[in-house]
Amino acid sequence: MNPKPDTKVQLTEEKETLLATLYGRAVDSRAKKPILGDTTAADTVRRLDYDFGKLRMGPGDAAGVALRARQLDVWTARFLAAHDEATVVHLGCGLDTRVHRLAPGPGVRWYDVDYPEVMELRATLYPEYAERAGYATIASSVTDPAWPARLPADRPAMIVAEGLLMYLTEEDGTTLLRRLMAHVPGGELAFDAFSRFAIRTQWLNRVVVNAGATLHWGTDAAGVVALSPELEIVENISALEIPGIEKLPTAYRTAARLTALLPGVRDMARMYRCRF
Ligand SMILES: C[S@@+](CC[C@H](N)C(=O)[O-])C[C@H]1O[C@@H](n2cnc3c(N)ncnc32)[C@H](O)[C@@H]1O
Repeated sequence: MNPKPDTKVQLTEEKETLLATLYGRAVDSRAKKPILGDTTAADTVRRLDYDFGKLRMGPGDAAGVALRARQLDVWTARFLAAHDEATVVHLGCGLDTRVHRLAPGPGVRWYDVDYPEVMELRATLYPEYAERAGYATIASSVTDPAWPARLPADRPAMIVAEGLLMYLTEEDGTTLLRRLMAHVPGGELAFDAFSRFAIRTQWLNRVVVNAGATLHWGTDAAGVVALSPELEIVENISALEIPGIEKLPTAYRTAARLTALLPGVRDMARMYRCRF
């Protein structure tokens, strides 16, 4: 028998959206052929006193969340394989357990960053992480100028943001990424971003509407390159063409392929891996 949920959740707006991505990973982990296979997410969902049913997240939505998470896992793992001594900055981590999935080596310093309320919930759910060597949490808005000073400045950094940047204003997001890139000696930046069209049509985004959140920052490859003269886009993938999407059941695959034919729709959500 499943244990009764013992952890009350009171998150609103952009903070509440982390429950949708968590649930997406949980649903994927229970699929016959999981994409990410994050069983921790399923365990966490069982412990939370929250109406996940209201998210109306089907297998297709869950696959989208899992594909995005897996792509960022792949990019981060590749970076860590090339850099024994590195920093990972995981911005707007929510309840994601990427550090557990990737199990980085002893030369890696890993920082999970999110709002204090979110970090408090993480500490309740994952108390064992406090003991993890090289791991630290930063309970702060990512836009606060103070916290980046806590990051090591002597080793390359992998900066990861999943489902975060669209919640920031363009000014805040740009300032944040420039501040981080200026603090570390170089590295990579991997994130997903929405287009301006996706921001204008956010009333169609069930996760955002459900949580009462607001999306602000829409951008494209030109906007990403403009972040810094030192930045170069290495990979730029539509969310509808993420590696692995071809393995989804035919109905989802066909829907993705057809919608990807409409340029405005294909570009609504894209994933970027950049070097700086
Ligand atoms: C869609 S959720 C994604 C969570 C996580 N990355 C995942 O994939 O499960 C958006 C996350 O961004 C965080 N977030 C949004 N604005 C933020 C800010 N200004 N500072 C810190 N975190 C923020 C929210 O608290 C939430 O955890």
